[in-house]
Amino acid sequence: MACGINRVVVIGTGFVGSSYAYSLVNQAITEELVLIDLNEEKAKGEEMDLNHGVGFSTTATKVWAGDYSDCKDADIVCITAGLNQNQGKTRLDSVGENTEIFKSIIQPVMDSGFDGIFIIATNPVDIMTYITWKLSGLPKEKVIGTGTLLDTSRYRFMLGEYFNVNSQDVNGYIIGEHGDTQVAAMSSTTIGGKRIVDIVNSSSKYSMKELDDISVYVRDVAYKIVQCKGSTYYGIGMGLSRLTKAILKNENIILPVSTYLNGEYGFKDIYAGFPASINRNGSGEIVELDLNEDEKKKLFYSIELLKNTLAKKF
Ligand code: 2OP
Repeated sequence: MACGINRVVVIGTGFVGSSYAYSLVNQAITEELVLIDLNEEKAKGEEMDLNHGVGFSTTATKVWAGDYSDCKDADIVCITAGLNQNQGKTRLDSVGENTEIFKSIIQPVMDSGFDGIFIIATNPVDIMTYITWKLSGLPKEKVIGTGTLLDTSRYRFMLGEYFNVNSQDVNGYIIGEHGDTQVAAMSSTTIGGKRIVDIVNSSSKYSMKELDDISVYVRDVAYKIVQCKGSTYYGIGMGLSRLTKAILKNENIILPVSTYLNGEYGFKDIYAGFPASINRNGSGEIVELDLNEDEKKKLFYSIELLKNTLAKKF
């Protein structure tokens, strides 16, 4: 970490990595941005293309296609490399291949002398984050997965549309697995300080059935996007840059990320998506939402699934 100069390294310059890089440059979030890919030509191509846009951003980002030695001075290394979620597959289906890919990435990053924060976007993200934590030996706070960041953004967008308010006024989270067992923490979701379940119960314009339909849509929409355009990348790219900014600017903002549970919500030794404060040290305190019995039951199932998947790996 050179003084005052932030460096982000992106490993994997596929659709997700390059969307993230584009978002970082466009918003001038970091001073230095290094692109690493097994396919060096691809990383070089992204370097040139991004550099041609740098002049249109507010502050110039120095972008280059690099190698693992560049991780030494990085504040953040973000891994997006891995298999895509193909049609008909769940995120958990890529765990085997992506674990092998991670073994070939984490070691050279750590060998460089890296001592910053890992952000993991590769699916199944909760599992890949745990694996990164184990393989890297870094403190748990310094390994963060994107978790339910994108699901929460989708949830807020949909509720904003439904209640006709700016989605930024929706305060609520998707928690648990970034995947098919995720849980909409609906009973604690508020708009302008009012619980959405109370808004629904006090107006004939709305229904609980429609709210439930929204949570199902949020859970399944990535499959729809994969069907329409092959993969999802803009949403996660922007979510990654939001998380990066929160770290680099020491924001102490609460974001739903894949974070290590050590007794919170009654679970231990697992990474999963929960709201946590994010700052220069990584992920901090986890917010324990009030959940109703149904949400607790679904969350238990979600965490059990993650634990069982991990048990097969370790
Ligand atoms: C997403 O939810 C596929 O995990 C990716 O968009």
